[in-house]
Amino acid sequence: MTPHPDIVYVLFTEAEIAKAVCDMGKRLRNYYADKNPVVVCTLKGAVTFFADLVRAMDCPVQFDFLQASSYHDGTTSGGCVQIKKDLETDIAGRHVILVEDIIDTGNTIACVKQVLLARNPASVRTVCLVDKPDRRTADIQSDDTCFCIPDAFIVGYGLDYAQRYRNLPYIGVLKESVYAK
Ligand code: PRP
Repeated sequence: MTPHPDIVYVLFTEAEIAKAVCDMGKRLRNYYADKNPVVVCTLKGAVTFFADLVRAMDCPVQFDFLQASSYHDGTTSGGCVQIKKDLETDIAGRHVILVEDIIDTGNTIACVKQVLLARNPASVRTVCLVDKPDRRTADIQSDDTCFCIPDAFIVGYGLDYAQRYRNLPYIGVLKESVYAK
């Protein structure tokens, strides 16, 4: 398939993503088989990853959804993101899997994890599709990761630029001319 004209090159193909997500699903299934975890999708970027990951888990799970404000346009005085859409589940005593599409500075996942831990869950594990450790400023690491990459502007498979490209089935590097306008 010819990549979208705004893509410099495909970093991870559909097949590579499917394999990595399936492998993570199996790892999670082994740990959570008898725990009925609450799997939390962080909107919007993690939707595609979440949908494939939960289908690869093959054990009882419960879905819930959470949306944090982008720290670019909505931070509290403490520098933390705000919760724009909260969970419907009471997670006290529950095992929680927090599903993120990308960890960049780590600010979003660190803030969201802090919010969830304050609700006394049995555990919180963070998993992400793409980790960019070179850009980390918050003191947090993903507990499980599909792909670890150096800094690059990537889109597709849920990841956007200005709300575009989320539905590309692969992850590609975006042409600088698109975002440097
Ligand atoms: C993106 C992504 C993560 C966050 C990562 O969210 O989905 O939540 O940025 O960045 P960080 O590690 O530097 O905090 P965004 O605010 O763009 O919203 P989206 O999920 O709707 O794309």
